[in-house]
Amino acid sequence: AYTPRPEDKFTFGLWTVGWEARDPFGDATRAPLDPVESVHKLAELGAYGVTFHDDDLLAVEKDRAKAIERFKGALADTGLKVPMATTNLFTHPVFKDGAFTSNDRDIRRYALRKVIRNIDLAAELGATTYVCWGGREGAESDGAKDVRVALDRFKESFDILTSYVIDKGYDLRFAIEPKPNEPRGDILLPTIGHALAFINSLEHPELVGLNPEVGHEQMAGLNFVHGIAQALWHGKLFHIDLNGQHGPKYDQDLIFGHGDLKSAFFLVDLLENGGYEGPRHFDYKPLRTDVDVWPSAAANMRTYLILKEKAAAYRADPEVAEALAASHAPELARPALAEGESLADLLSEDFDAEAAGQRDRAYTRLNQLAIEHILGVR
Ligand code: GCO
Ligand code: MN
Ligand code: MN
Ligand code: MN
Repeated sequence: AYTPRPEDKFTFGLWTVGWEARDPFGDATRAPLDPVESVHKLAELGAYGVTFHDDDLLAVEKDRAKAIERFKGALADTGLKVPMATTNLFTHPVFKDGAFTSNDRDIRRYALRKVIRNIDLAAELGATTYVCWGGREGAESDGAKDVRVALDRFKESFDILTSYVIDKGYDLRFAIEPKPNEPRGDILLPTIGHALAFINSLEHPELVGLNPEVGHEQMAGLNFVHGIAQALWHGKLFHIDLNGQHGPKYDQDLIFGHGDLKSAFFLVDLLENGGYEGPRHFDYKPLRTDVDVWPSAAANMRTYLILKEKAAAYRADPEVAEALAASHAPELARPALAEGESLADLLSEDFDAEAAGQRDRAYTRLNQLAIEHILGVR
């Protein structure tokens, strides 16, 4: 039951399993992984697809044309799909002060060329989502950047890129990935909420949505499930990065479910029942202490499938339905003004606030039921 199949739509970034585990304090502990091997391994494990940064393709073969040919060959051999691609605008020193929001105009123009070159490849490979994570778009000092001007340049970049995609007739939408900090002291568009507001000011807002990552919102101390619900409500959940995180600290990129497990449970419940149909994309880092990265890749998918089963059982549990009813949960769907009612009806209503203030909610019971489903005792 916990065996992943392509229908489950699990996808992985090449940079996840391929992470050589270089960190700010230590050298790589693993050798570069051949993308061809990753594609074959992920297919064997039951994944649906693979995603990549432009530079990820060059991990072992440095000639771009040859690397692309080899990658395409592996996709053809395995049937693995490429639903999403992205650009590395953060590793090279040229991007140390930003890409789309670098002070230097020539660097911004170079960044746009780098993105557009990989958009062409993404479209050719059938990707429908193009992720933009602006890891270097930010500052360490509030005096260093006029954020309002940086946002002008950020907007200009998305306006250029969306126009390009329209001109080319590509079936491709952009997904902004918010993150509050790391590698910059503070990153622009730090949370789901900031990014949602930014999208409204773009020339083609319909072509731009979100790629929220579990750990990034939790680094900001925010509730990821609520953030995803709001993104869905706005029709902006274009893609998602699943992983694990323990609260506000450095970006841990743990295996999905290996951070806040209860939040992961309610997230799976929301994704499975909230109308999200895109890939279940894992953006995690195999532990630096792991020599073999494949058990960790499998663990992401297995954990998701276990939580999916637990969430379905939770929903089907009559005691959960009872607790929800006792909490008046279904009534939230009723508008304050019913069909045919006027504001005058509302204004003239009698109401006993003292009595209503004494109404109970069965939330403690509901929460305990969730815990017991997660712990497997129900
Ligand atoms: C992070 C980010 C990155 C991006 C990826 C896509 O962990 O800080 O998630 O991994 O998702 O680089 O551009
Ligand atoms: Mn991350
Ligand atoms: Mn990510
Ligand atoms: Mn990541």
